[in-house]
Amino acid sequence: MNRIFSGVQPTGNLHLGNYLGAIKNWVSLQKDFECIFCIVDLHAITIKQDPKELENNTLEVTAAYLASGIDPEKTIIFNQSAVSAHTELTWLLSCFTPIGWLNRMTQFKEKAGKKKDNAVLGLYSYPVLMASDILAYKATHVPVGEDQKQHLELSRDIAGAFNQAYSTDLFPIPEPQIFGEATRVMSLRNGKNKMSKSDESDYSRINITDTKDLINLKIQKAKTDPYPLPSEKKELENRPEAENLLGIYSALKDEKFDDVMKEMSGKDFSSFKKLLSELTIDKIEPISKKMNDYLKNKDYLKKILEEGKKKANDISSKNLLEIKKTIGLLII
Ligand code: AMP
Ligand code: TRP
Repeated sequence: MNRIFSGVQPTGNLHLGNYLGAIKNWVSLQKDFECIFCIVDLHAITIKQDPKELENNTLEVTAAYLASGIDPEKTIIFNQSAVSAHTELTWLLSCFTPIGWLNRMTQFKEKAGKKKDNAVLGLYSYPVLMASDILAYKATHVPVGEDQKQHLELSRDIAGAFNQAYSTDLFPIPEPQIFGEATRVMSLRNGKNKMSKSDESDYSRINITDTKDLINLKIQKAKTDPYPLPSEKKELENRPEAENLLGIYSALKDEKFDDVMKEMSGKDFSSFKKLLSELTIDKIEPISKKMNDYLKNKDYLKKILEEGKKKANDISSKNLLEIKKTIGLLII
């Protein structure tokens, strides 16, 4: 049986990268698969969060899921901290995770910066919590943006290490699903950096909640180069900004990158940016409007999360019991 699990951190500034790299793809997956989409608030607290903002951001991501087309009738939506199996399993799996594997994680190195000794343990063990999210549900497929590839490989290794230790096939080895034309959306200010919630410049990203005027302005100001758009992919080498904007366009338009290149070949950036602005507004504005409507009814959002919590608990508590028995922990 196929089961899909993925999550987004409630850390504010949901942007086009989150939408195109993750949430947009999830919407189509729920037609064919059993899906579980989580708001990973325990991952969020690996960096300092303001309590009030964290709570609000959790509801905001819930609203973004619904506004993007995630259907709570079909799909389980819940916040991670509401289901205790995630943290319990993290301990169990940490006993199967060699420190050397964690030392390779580039996200930890980036986030911890130079003062590694001051970094908190949670930031270091972040990928074990992520493996637990997935494995608590025995998920088989995990749709994410490209930046999560390394963490997913670690989840696969941890599942394999557990299975091998007990000669079992208890955990399916989860498959990454990294697809779409924008698996890595880059900053609008520098095509070599990932579009990110934490970039100091708000002009580096398009937030799902940006107004029409702001989207227009951000795209107008986006960094480009002085050349017209090329017709061949190889001519995009060393033109990361052009490649990024074309990728965003094709992902939003649901068209193949190569077809968009053909369509735009020879155009200068000012006319391409106009088309890109119109398309972005066309796709993002309805989501942002719906999100604001949902946010007016926080009780409804909480009700969705409560229902999701129950369903998530049912699945994960059974799995946790099986895992504990396998390890030999006495069940009373
Ligand atoms: P996060 O905001 O780190 O919780 O990420 C949530 C989801 O969005 C994950 O699946 C990420 O891989 C994806 N994501 C985040 N930033 C980008 C980006 N710039 N391009 C594509 N996908 C992204
Ligand atoms: N670490 C992921 C990110 O920052 C979010 C995440 C947490 C996740 N748990 C997950 C994604 C489980 C997929 C599956 O993007």
